[in-house]
Amino acid sequence: VDLHIDLVGRHGLADQIYHALRAAILDGRLRAGEALPPTRELARRLQVSRNTVSVAYDRLVGEGFLVTRIGAGTYISDHFGAAASPARQATTQELLPHPRWNVPYPRWNAVGHAPAGGVRYNFRVGLPDLALFPFETWRRLVAHELRLSAVRTAAYGDPSGHSGLRAAIARHVSVSRAVKADADAVTVTAGAQQAIDLIARVLLGPGDCAAVEEPGYPPVRLLLQSLGARVCPVPVDSQGIVVEAIPRDARLIYVSPAHQFPLGMPMSLGRRMELLQWAAAQDAAIIEDDYDSEFRFGGRPIETLYGLDTRGRVLYVGTFSKTMLPAIRLGFLIAPKSLQPAVRVAKYAADWFSPLATQAALARFIDEGLLARHIRKMRAEYERRHDRVRHVLAAQGGWLQPIESGAGLHLTALLTDGQELSLADVLERTDDSGVVVSPLAAFYANQPAQSGLVLGYGAIQLAKIDDGLRLLRSVLTAPVRHDR
Ligand SMILES: Cc1ncc(COP(=O)(O)O)c(C=O)c1O
Repeated sequence: VDLHIDLVGRHGLADQIYHALRAAILDGRLRAGEALPPTRELARRLQVSRNTVSVAYDRLVGEGFLVTRIGAGTYISDHFGAAASPARQATTQELLPHPRWNVPYPRWNAVGHAPAGGVRYNFRVGLPDLALFPFETWRRLVAHELRLSAVRTAAYGDPSGHSGLRAAIARHVSVSRAVKADADAVTVTAGAQQAIDLIARVLLGPGDCAAVEEPGYPPVRLLLQSLGARVCPVPVDSQGIVVEAIPRDARLIYVSPAHQFPLGMPMSLGRRMELLQWAAAQDAAIIEDDYDSEFRFGGRPIETLYGLDTRGRVLYVGTFSKTMLPAIRLGFLIAPKSLQPAVRVAKYAADWFSPLATQAALARFIDEGLLARHIRKMRAEYERRHDRVRHVLAAQGGWLQPIESGAGLHLTALLTDGQELSLADVLERTDDSGVVVSPLAAFYANQPAQSGLVLGYGAIQLAKIDDGLRLLRSVLTAPVRHDR
């Protein structure tokens, strides 16, 4: 071959020759089987030492780009035959994802989207108050687990989770939610999202129907779709999911009974019993997402589906994203005995295990009573904010009518005077206002039945709620400007 190689200066010459040859092989200028000039000849042409060329050749041989045939010289390796062939080039195109991944990044909770005007009043849904988190204590616990002497947390861990944390979770849910389960039933996961992912992997095959609430929690719809399930949105009424409307072939039903996401009402006891009976009769499983029920403001908590279930149909899912921080990225699932081995294998296949130092620190946070204390403090604070939002909306004359709800970190309110706000309307009108809020329309899989807003109060200070809602009302009720 008569390959042209440009050399610059007198430094790193072997490196330059190596890169020039490598690039020529990769882009097909040099083809499989072609002979390279002997080192002596190339050295003379390039006016470098023979050793310099040998160094470049040896490196390319070592990496498999070139082969030497004893007594016959150095050749381009056969690996590069296909890359250079015209047939292969003709079919080469951009890599594309499977069509079920042809979805835009969801904007409903605006994570990763900074409004043009910056965030002054944050009514984003699902965020706890970071400012009130005991970071100093948490840092101490995590640092303790990261000491060299804490070697037990430094190797590969059990996919089901850190044994101390599993036991602590079992105790925690037995006290806070009257969920009776032993530590063996608990799997520690990367948030509720992974708990639901593991359950779906264990129970669903491609094309199986997974029923979800409509409106509902978009990340779970997306997850189920991505696994190849047929996602079947089922309407909710004031008592919860309409059991009669669940497709008969649903294998899995995902619900949020304590605090329907996003509408906020609890599922009635009657509806819970109906759902459990339906699942038993149809041989289906139920995922109970209990994501924020630790924050209940008065009223008797309704027993969990898990607690009411006598036939092993319910998988209970919890998260520390609301009681602690989303960034800790820990949640859990409690599965019936029949599913525990498969769940363990699924977690192993997904990511083997969750970070051990964080798990161990959380176990101590729970065991020392710090989680319970933090929840008590936050419950009182969130209740004040919940009441304030309701009070201000009422004082504003009811342009937004809150749906009755006594729990959690958000409140959903419906537009009353026939006004309609699409996802795009809300995002566009609030974008440069400094108010961040989620339109209810964002939580529907199909056409929204009702128009409203989901107001998170986890991340907004009590003192800012009045001004935030005043501004929100003025931006959303102002006449549409057509000069934009
Ligand atoms: C309905 C619902 N489930 C679960 C979660 C928590 O998910 P994760 O534990 O994956 O952070 C949220 C958070 O917003 C939620 O709204």
